[in-house]
Amino acid sequence: MKLIKGPGSPKLSERLIERNDLDYVEVESKIFPDGEIYVKLSKSVEDEDCYLVQTTYPNRRLLELFFIQDALIGNGARSVNVIVPYFSYARQDQMFKEGESISSRAIAERIQIQADSFYSVDLHSEKITDFFKIEADNYTAMRLLGVHSELYEPDLLISPDEGGIDRVKMAADEIDTEWDYLEKKRLDGETVEIKPKNIEAEGKKVVILDDIISTGGTMMEAARQLLEQGADQVHAGCTHGLFVDDAFDKLDEICDSVFCTDTIESNGCEVTVAPLFDSVF
Ligand code: R5P
Repeated sequence: MKLIKGPGSPKLSERLIERNDLDYVEVESKIFPDGEIYVKLSKSVEDEDCYLVQTTYPNRRLLELFFIQDALIGNGARSVNVIVPYFSYARQDQMFKEGESISSRAIAERIQIQADSFYSVDLHSEKITDFFKIEADNYTAMRLLGVHSELYEPDLLISPDEGGIDRVKMAADEIDTEWDYLEKKRLDGETVEIKPKNIEAEGKKVVILDDIISTGGTMMEAARQLLEQGADQVHAGCTHGLFVDDAFDKLDEICDSVFCTDTIESNGCEVTVAPLFDSVF
């Protein structure tokens, strides 16, 4: 068995290697002047069961994933098992308007052409596992985020929208803490409106948990609401920290802390999802 260290997930790969005492293969990746991507495996994978760890954000990582899968098949791997800690395009899981693509299905279909199994974390939509005809498992980091939240001695865990109720409940149950949710309306790609709702935040330490922080618009609005309602501390956490442009810094300015997991590697990663894969190895 070999773990393949995808260039998008070096730290998570290291953690998995150490935790499961795995042999591994590095991957060289470079970009040609015209923008084309080149990948090369550093060692033979002939007759090996391979576990490729590669996130899919930003887009470059997605192309690398496809090319590494191809390299594994082309170089005689016995099986190709794909661990995609962050599966991008998951929010486009249906045709919202006529003429659109179901982007997450397109990606799932491409992955499974050259894979025997697929694993991911906090897929934005559970529906995505149904797009796969191979084994496809979705793990959740919410209990790990709950445990991390304990550092802040929270009185309350909050989901910024109704869609995140199951997630925040899971985190709150793990540490036996109260939870609630806000009501969000998305106005466009970067602007959201959070309806005022009295959730008794006065004087409380609150942790807001979401699956994704992208532009940070959702988290900013949620944090503002809670601060306006008198919250004593507001911490913002998520599984997938995309932190587009200066989203991390903007959030860091108004929140007491900002944290995420290593499904996408950045300075904000304080929680590793490595333990979620114990049953895979
Ligand atoms: C949406 O349903 C997701 O759960 C996140 O709330 C959303 O993707 C966050 O995006 P942004 O940071 O751009 O508001």
